[in-house]
Amino acid sequence: MAGLIPQEFIDDLVARVDIVELIDELVHLKKAGREYKACCPFHDEKTPSFTVSADKQFYHCFGCGAHGTAIGFLMEYSHLDFVEAVEELASRAGMDVPRGDDAPVSQGPSSAPLYAILEQALGYFRQQLARHPAAPEARSYLQDRELDAEVLERFEIGYAPPGWNNLQQVLGKGPAARQQLLDAGLTTEGSRNEPYDRFRDRVIFPIRDRRGRVVGFGGRVLKDDTPKYLNSPETPVFHKGRELYGLYQALQIQGHWPRLVVVEGYTDVLALAARGIGYAVATLGTAVTEDHLKPLFRLADEVVFCFDGDRAGQKAAWRTVEVALPALRDGCQAAFVFLPEGEDPDSLIRRLGPEDFEQRVASATGLTEFLFSHLQEQVDLSSLDGRARLAGLARPLVEKIPPGALRQLVIKRLGSLTGLESPEVDQLVGRPHSPLRPSRPRLSPTTERQRPSLVRSGIQLLIHHPEMGAAINAPVGLEKLEIAGIPLLLEILDLLTQKPSLSTAGLLEHFRERSEGRHLTQLATQAPPMLSAKGLSQELGDILSRLVRKLDEQRYRQLAQKVGDGPLNDSEKEEYRRLCSALPRIENPE
Ligand code: UTP
Ligand code: MN
Repeated sequence: MAGLIPQEFIDDLVARVDIVELIDELVHLKKAGREYKACCPFHDEKTPSFTVSADKQFYHCFGCGAHGTAIGFLMEYSHLDFVEAVEELASRAGMDVPRGDDAPVSQGPSSAPLYAILEQALGYFRQQLARHPAAPEARSYLQDRELDAEVLERFEIGYAPPGWNNLQQVLGKGPAARQQLLDAGLTTEGSRNEPYDRFRDRVIFPIRDRRGRVVGFGGRVLKDDTPKYLNSPETPVFHKGRELYGLYQALQIQGHWPRLVVVEGYTDVLALAARGIGYAVATLGTAVTEDHLKPLFRLADEVVFCFDGDRAGQKAAWRTVEVALPALRDGCQAAFVFLPEGEDPDSLIRRLGPEDFEQRVASATGLTEFLFSHLQEQVDLSSLDGRARLAGLARPLVEKIPPGALRQLVIKRLGSLTGLESPEVDQLVGRPHSPLRPSRPRLSPTTERQRPSLVRSGIQLLIHHPEMGAAINAPVGLEKLEIAGIPLLLEILDLLTQKPSLSTAGLLEHFRERSEGRHLTQLATQAPPMLSAKGLSQELGDILSRLVRKLDEQRYRQLAQKVGDGPLNDSEKEEYRRLCSALPRIENPE
């Protein structure tokens, strides 16, 4: 997604925006030395450990570990996705976000006709529910489901009449339109390459995306035929793993909800809506994905998932926990409702009414509670072994939670359940800082950690002082040095040569979408070397010349190996001689 906004623009934006000003508007900052401080907006605290650096355009909380750039702050604080955060910052800075022509997010320019034909098809289906000679049966089916006219209208329910060629006759005028019907998934190609209508003699549930565009349909048979439900296939505009049925309608009522409920089926959404519960959405016959959840967690304070009470329901709930953890943001809760066996929200609300349903939702099991009770079922907490195992099981889960209050809560809970001291828990879950004892230094398991590698020190210097990169040339040939991190170090040096005015934040934004981004951001949170400006460039120069020496050693070893295998050519001999005298103590390199 970010790829659609040119990196140049991100550079300008990050350079233009002042993170101190931005954060100060939302969280009152106090000047403290070179930095600004506040009580962290991402976790509960009484003494401020949240710091913002104007030089680096970077924030970091020593308490909970939250950190990032201005873009990252808006994403976390205002629950925006990357593009939304960029748009918000740009509008504050009076800039227009350029996008590769005006093609919207992630779609090619050819999507417009698909939206148009889907909208026309919806018009046709709705008309048929009112008029078609076979429609009374569909209308009485809907009536039997106790769906009133208001709900049918709000959800734009339609009817696809029997027959194989209705849509082509009405909308398929010319080969282009026929192709669009096919591309939109409204018709399907048979074995003889003759396209025919996908939806026949079915009640139609149109699916609108969050922006209100019709992207696909669901269709239900009127009787007991199979398949009971048929959905549009994946198309350039329809992705089941992203859309939620009913979200558009819920957002028509209000843009942000205290609570949204996720159910399984179209008819659950409709039955709830018909009884005044307008905040239910459904996945489209797929398991919940992170793409579903990210917008949900932004659009509601709490997301409640409904599952069957049986084993399958428990399993599905656990899958949802795993998907939800990375998407969870502070200030948003997730919870689970397990329905009596054999019931779905549709049957339940019709039998017991909306108050009963709302009651169940209000007393849903919180995610943390569900998570720990599920894990505890697998271990014996009375033994030391079992407690260690619990910490082990929890570790990959905790790692998925973004830094903030929820993560802290889970770590605390883990600490109290296992009886392990918090630093030990921290170590188990691989956290660099303990939220309980913020000042405690990191316990490094290996000496490697205690003495950071040259490359790592070099990268860290550049992240904290990007202005130095511009003045320094990468030594010739260093790319041949076979040490982890060298390509990254060189890439950063190169980037800073080309863009000498990048701040720490600007530099980090170049790596947002890459796996290295996380490590680099982490380095930005670790105490920078305290050296004078002169000391800094000396330090960096020193690191680079030590790397050059390592390169020489590497080359020497290669040539020494070659000498054993056969004679060297003239230039190799020359080089070997040079290295022998340049590396007097090469026999025992440190
Ligand atoms: P259910 O079979 O539980 O149906 O499937 P339901 O929603 O209770 O349907 P009614 O009450 O009999 O009308 C739950 C959901 O799974 C998807 C649909 O989204 C459905 O709403 N599904 C189910 C399919 O996509 N295809 C199917 O054949 C069945
Ligand atoms: Mn049902």
